Amino acid sequence: MMRVAIVLGTRPEIIKMAPLMREFERRKSDFFILHTGQHYSYNLDKVFFEQLGLPHPKYNLEVGSGSHAEETSKMLVGIEKVLLEEKPDIVLVEGDTNSVLAGAVAAVKLQIKVGHVEAGLRSYDRSMPEEINRILTDHCSDYLFAPTEKAEGILLGEGIPRERIFVTGNTIVDSIYQNIEIARERGNALGTLHLSVGKYFLVTLHRQENVDNPLRFASIIEGLDNVATELQVLMVYPIHPRSRKMMSEFRLRPKDLRLVDPLDYLSFLQLESHAKLILTDSGGVQEEACVLGVPCVTLRDNTERPETIEVGSNILAGAIAEKILECSKFMLGKENNWSNPFGDGRAGERIVDIITGGRNG
Ligand code: UD1
Ligand code: UDP
Repeated sequence: MMRVAIVLGTRPEIIKMAPLMREFERRKSDFFILHTGQHYSYNLDKVFFEQLGLPHPKYNLEVGSGSHAEETSKMLVGIEKVLLEEKPDIVLVEGDTNSVLAGAVAAVKLQIKVGHVEAGLRSYDRSMPEEINRILTDHCSDYLFAPTEKAEGILLGEGIPRERIFVTGNTIVDSIYQNIEIARERGNALGTLHLSVGKYFLVTLHRQENVDNPLRFASIIEGLDNVATELQVLMVYPIHPRSRKMMSEFRLRPKDLRLVDPLDYLSFLQLESHAKLILTDSGGVQEEACVLGVPCVTLRDNTERPETIEVGSNILAGAIAEKILECSKFMLGKENNWSNPFGDGRAGERIVDIITGGRNG
C-alpha cells in the first residue's frame, strides 16, 4: 500500500483537503497530515478539524507568522526532516500558500512524488505571492489536478506534459455538498448575528495586496461603506486577523461595516448561502459564491478563477470606491441562473483513484 503525506498549513487548505482526507479514511489508506502551523489561531485552524471531524495532524511544525522567506524557510527545514523519517511515496498539497510551495519543494528535492490539487490557476499578476507559489508548485509536481479544462489548457501551454495533468473538478464543490445541508439545518450564524435570509451582504477581505496597502485598503472600505449607505443594506465582515491588524495600524474606521471574528465553516457556509451579495478578495469564496448561486463582486484587479466571470457569477471591481458600488448594483440586477463550472462534487474521489491507481489502491 502506498504511503501518502498531506502537507497543509492554512484555513483554505484544510477545507479543500477535507474531502481527500475523508476518502483516504474511507478506503483505510496509509496517510498522515503534516501541518506547517502557518495558521494557528483557533478560528483559522483547529475549529475546522473539530467541526469537520478530520484526523489530527501527526506533525505540527508550529512555524507561525513571518516574512515570506521566514515562513517558507522554516517550513522547508521542518518538512524535510519529517519526510526523511516517514518516507512517504507521495506528498499532496492544495492551493497557493507558502505552505504549499514549501511542501512541494521539500518533496521534489528528496525525489518524492508531488501531487498538486488545484493546479493550473493563473492570475498573471506576479506581484501576488500566491501567483509565484502556484507557478513554482505546478512546475515541481508529478500529478497536476486541474479543476477545469481551462486550467488544464494553461498547464499544457506552459509545457507541462499531458500525462501529468488530470481534470478532476475542484474539491471545494465536494466540501460544499458534504456540508451545506448540515450548515442550513444546524448552522446558527444567522440567529446569532441577528440576520435575515437574503437581507444582508457578506464581505471578506484579507489579501496582502489589498490590506497591506493603506491607500488601497482605505479605498475599498470607502467603497463598502458607500454600498451599505446607498443600498441601505447590512454588511457583515468576518475579519481575517491580518486585516484586523492592518486596519488598526492604518487607523481605518469603517462606518457601516459590521466586523465579526472569523467564523467556523458551517456558520460561514450558512451566511454565504443566504447572502444577497458577496464582496470578497478570497479565492475560495469566489468559487463558493458561484457554486451556491450567490452573485459575487471581487475586490481585485484580476482573478485566477476566470470561469466565474465567464458564467456570469462574478465581476472584478478592483479597489476603486465608485466601481465597487457600480459593480454591486450591476450584480444585484442580474439573474442568478449560471451553471457551476467547478465539477460535480466528486473531485476528492477521483484524485484518490488516480494516486492509488484505482479503487482498491
Ligand atoms: C495566507 C496565504 C493566502 C491565503 C490566506 C488564507 C500566503 C502567502 N498567503 O495569507 O494566500 O489566502 O492565508 O487565509 O501563504 N495571523 C494570525 N493568526 C493566524 C495566522 C495569521 O493572527 O493563525 C495574522 C498574523 O498577524 C500574520 C498575518 O495574519 O502576520 C498574516 O498571516 P500569513 O499566514 O503570513 O498570511 P495570510 O494573510 O494568512
Ligand atoms: N471561511 C470560513 N470562515 C470565514 C471566512 C472564510 O470558514 O470566516 C472559509 C470559506 O468558506 C472558504 C475558505 O475559508 O472555504 C476561504 O479561505 P480564505 O478566504 O482565507 O483563503 P483563500 O481562498 O483566499 O486562499
